[in-house]
Amino acid sequence: MLHTVDMAAHPYLSGRFAPAAAERDAADLRIEGSLPADLDGVFMRNGPNPRFPPLGSYTYPMEGDAMIHAVWISGGRARYRNRWVRTSGLLAEVRAGRALYGGIMKPAFVDPALLGADRDPGWPVKLDPFINIIRHAGHYLALAEGIPPYEVTPELATLGRFDFGGQLPLGICARPRRDPVTGELVVFRYDSDPPYLTWATIAPDGTVIQPATEVPRLEQPAMIHDFAITEHYAVFVIGPAIIHAEALVGSGAVVRWQPGLGTRIVVVPRSGPGTPAIAETEPFWAWHLANAYEDGTRVVTDFPWRERLILAEGGGPGGNGQQPAGRLARLTVDPARGTADLVHIGSVGAEFPRIDDRLTGREHRYLTGCGRSGRPGLAPGEYDRLVRYDMATGQSVRYDTGAAIGEAVFVPRAAATEELDGYYLCFGRELADDTSWLYVWDAADFPGPPRARAAIPAPVPNGLHANWFAA
Ligand SMILES: [Fe+2]
Repeated sequence: MLHTVDMAAHPYLSGRFAPAAAERDAADLRIEGSLPADLDGVFMRNGPNPRFPPLGSYTYPMEGDAMIHAVWISGGRARYRNRWVRTSGLLAEVRAGRALYGGIMKPAFVDPALLGADRDPGWPVKLDPFINIIRHAGHYLALAEGIPPYEVTPELATLGRFDFGGQLPLGICARPRRDPVTGELVVFRYDSDPPYLTWATIAPDGTVIQPATEVPRLEQPAMIHDFAITEHYAVFVIGPAIIHAEALVGSGAVVRWQPGLGTRIVVVPRSGPGTPAIAETEPFWAWHLANAYEDGTRVVTDFPWRERLILAEGGGPGGNGQQPAGRLARLTVDPARGTADLVHIGSVGAEFPRIDDRLTGREHRYLTGCGRSGRPGLAPGEYDRLVRYDMATGQSVRYDTGAAIGEAVFVPRAAATEELDGYYLCFGRELADDTSWLYVWDAADFPGPPRARAAIPAPVPNGLHANWFAA
């Protein structure tokens, strides 16, 4: 019998990581400063938010129920709503009034009678769609890793599992990329069983036009959180984070860092099944890739570089405080020669890298990320600094927010074309008084204080990926 995790003692279930206990609606949020009149849409952010005290173990950011926090903005006014994504696993736990599934590190083989006919596809582990929220072909999809997304309505009511008309029944990754020119959504999926890695392409209308296609020549199942696309390629940075599914029923960690295997950069042609170019490098880890693009015959990828994966109970991006934030690096791959060149850009760390999404797969100049100022009181895995890199000069500028902030999203001004002609939006929680806000910066005025912030009437816990959906 597994015991419940002591949430107050767990670094990722307490403090600003403590899950929200309730769902709320708030109209007409109090605004400080002024929201841009041309900002018209909704900012949504997903994150793990256990409904019940977890059983056995809790590993951040690998498990938990999904909760989406959303702020709708129009005409200079804003409203807020947060909702759990009601997955089959969460509904079973709500019926039972307690957690049923164990954690990844200590799974519990739940009595199937308690789960009903529709058990979580990640069984015996509850894999829930708490990592990201996207909109494609009019569908709002809460994304997990390796299981099907859940569709929610534009107002965050859960509709159910979404498998792209049965064409991607096993699910997709949590970090797909949309080609801004074709409108295609490129996705991947990793698995503990062969094929270890597949990718697929979904047309703007939601039709799967390239079915799940194996990336050949991979001998080990590796955990792959993110990837990038260029006009012609999908780019995978595969660190030696090897999945040991047998540990679910045996012992030891399910994901193990095996540096002797090195890191592999795998460049896959997007045109269809084909031979990937593979470059082998020293071991390193990347949670997220900012973007990739083609420079002549070479493929350039920018990302926060980490010496290794730290993943244990209490691990995760920035976990353990050992690697506060990844140092930005640029990787240049020559697919024809199978070589990869890694250059570190400055010493300022940042995680949750984002660009102007209209440049996905094309050359970007700017990227933003969340960094740490070194201010006391910031917990491991938290960020209080918004950083912007200029890749043309290699310089960065930064603004220390005085808040624990989440992923910042660039929202272009209507009809604007320039990379800095728009806004940065993110959630944050003030370190001084613990109030929660949605912050809005004018990108052209950065670095500097936000031009506006909207008060969220309940604590917004630290979370994961966010996006803006224009009205
Ligand atoms: Fe992520």
